Amino acid sequence: MDTPPEEMQALAREMMARAYAPYSKFSVGAVLRGQNGKLYGGCNVENASYPESCCAEASAISAMVADGERRIAEMVVMATADDPVTPCGGCRQRLREFAGDDVKVHFCDPSGPRGMMTMGALLPHSFGPSHLGVKP
Ligand code: THU
Repeated sequence: MDTPPEEMQALAREMMARAYAPYSKFSVGAVLRGQNGKLYGGCNVENASYPESCCAEASAISAMVADGERRIAEMVVMATADDPVTPCGGCRQRLREFAGDDVKVHFCDPSGPRGMMTMGALLPHSFGPSHLGVKP
């Protein structure tokens, strides 16, 4: 199986442990490796007003962009469930803004990898910055 680097999995475990998910009780960790080689982590942060909650992937994107990086080289999403946890539809679009079609998205649980798909397979025929004449 195509496995993400152990340091990405270790950070994803840390992120999962920091999730604020008192409502769903479903903790998610996300780790992005920027093209600069640095790792950026995020966790889901829920809110009593449920729609105001933030997914782990969105948190990780914010950390990356705030650090000055705008391109994703590889990513890990980690959660515990019967089926491998893939990014939600909204997060696929958020990730696509900063990731090419060939970027690997690894699905893990705390004990290890459960699967991998490329960004292009997760969000085929996607709408993106180039449709608006923008280079992210
Ligand atoms: N969640 C994520 O953080 N990322 C995903 O891709 C799937 C869902 C969070 C949102 C909410 O806090 C909890 O998981 C249950 O939906």
